Amino acid sequence: MAKISPSILAADFNRLGEQISIVEKAGADYLHIDVMDGLFVPSISYGMPLIKSIRKESSLFFDVHLMIHEPIRYIDEFVNSGADLITIHYEACENVQETLDKIKSSGVKSGLSIKPNTPVSVLEPYLDKVDLILVMSVEPGFGGQKFIESTYSKLRELKKLTDKMDNPPEIEVDGGITLDNAADVLAAGADVLVAGSSLFRDNIEEKVKRFIEI
Ligand code: DX5
Ligand code: ZN
Repeated sequence: MAKISPSILAADFNRLGEQISIVEKAGADYLHIDVMDGLFVPSISYGMPLIKSIRKESSLFFDVHLMIHEPIRYIDEFVNSGADLITIHYEACENVQETLDKIKSSGVKSGLSIKPNTPVSVLEPYLDKVDLILVMSVEPGFGGQKFIESTYSKLRELKKLTDKMDNPPEIEVDGGITLDNAADVLAAGADVLVAGSSLFRDNIEEKVKRFIEI
């Protein structure tokens, strides 16, 4: 059984509340919320006011993926908005450890993400300090891109490292996940799959159920 984190970047914002309630009822575990600042990534998405607003209606686990430069500046605000997990990018922080400490001391779970060209080895000092590692399987910034195949070997390498641990972080994969590649991504070591454009399409309820069954 896969853990699934539907990415609302691909939802119909005109019907956002309704679509979140569909994925929640269908059994999704997490809700993936992509925050983009137009600096760390080229695009701009949404931020705290949106999270605050959907928090009122949903009890899903809010998996907030910060694609922003120096996220340490905004941790308190994302915690106050309702995040349950805050994932930051290794490449976006001058001081990764300080940023993770800030998240931890705010009382929410912490995640660390790497872009496709960043090696798994940079994660080693942080593996026992985070709740989740997010491996990007596309260049962050946009939904609807094609899964990068070299992610499989990165996942296997990461899994080898976390298998030795008593309390390993969860491994999440984000970008280009479909019903066709999900089983391979799980087999390579993923625990949580983010799915945007392949999930918020056609029958959303059925899609969530099919992802969970994999
Ligand atoms: C990309 C985002 C993803 C995106 C995934 O920068 O981090 O979460 O929404 O979308 P799909 O599943 O369409 O690749
Ligand atoms: Zn994401």
